[in-house]
Amino acid sequence: MSNVYLNGQWLPIEQAQISVLDRGFIFGDGVYEVIPVYSRKAFALDAHLQRLDNSLKGIRLAAPLNHDQWRTIIGQLVGEADQEDSSIYLQISRGVAPRDHAFPKNTSATVFAMAKPMAPVPQDWLENGIKVVTHTDDRWLHCDLKTTALLANVLLRQYAVDQGAVECVLIRDGFVTEGAASNIIVVHDNTLLFPPRNNLILPGITYDLIIDLAQQHRLPFKEAPVPQTVLLQASEIMMTSSTREIVPITQIDGKPVGNGQPGPLFKQLLTLYQSLK
Ligand code: PDD
Repeated sequence: MSNVYLNGQWLPIEQAQISVLDRGFIFGDGVYEVIPVYSRKAFALDAHLQRLDNSLKGIRLAAPLNHDQWRTIIGQLVGEADQEDSSIYLQISRGVAPRDHAFPKNTSATVFAMAKPMAPVPQDWLENGIKVVTHTDDRWLHCDLKTTALLANVLLRQYAVDQGAVECVLIRDGFVTEGAASNIIVVHDNTLLFPPRNNLILPGITYDLIIDLAQQHRLPFKEAPVPQTVLLQASEIMMTSSTREIVPITQIDGKPVGNGQPGPLFKQLLTLYQSLK
């Protein structure tokens, strides 16, 4: 594996070490990004860096690097990656300090970045779709920030995996929010429904790109709250993320979605998304 970046140094991952007092470890006090790389080019990088700034602002942590500095680090990771297609993981924590909930004074952030091989989306998922289960969205009210405090998401994803499903679709107060690590798009009455981008969901970069594609290609779409009842009557459901792109959901809580096969709007969006890459 190529070297990773830690606080200004480049080193093999086994030698990259942080203190046990790092607030990322102690409190999950940090933010992160996952950026897909195709043919050694970071995809939608500006949007990811913009969202990183937003997450940092949301947790009141000063940006330790500017976009040009990030681009240099990412360029080096992408260039040295073992594969043409990879994903870049960036994490910034509030740094190392004696354990105390309130922010430490005069502590520098911990900055980490690595390239990871990108696992291709299984062909079976694209041809036959995936199973999901629903669960109450029991996370906090700042889901628009991409923070490393992901325990709720971890438990929700595992709840799905324990039932042989790929993802967990979250419901808050009777409305769809998103997946444990993805955004959710629902088709009802031949219209693509996108749960609104507010504090209850992560503004997915893939999700944004798909909304733009729907707009450009005049597909019928609405960004509007999606009741659970509509989810369960949907003709199509899809999930999106940087690592899984766009995947059809053909079974929810043990019942088929529509006719149980990937639908026409999914196929159209997949083709459009592939051409963007
Ligand atoms: N997660 N919502 C949540 C809660 C997520 O964790 C993710 C992605 C998304 C999709 O966002 P994007 O399209 O920008 O990847 C939505 C990443 C891939 C992860 O945590 O590994």
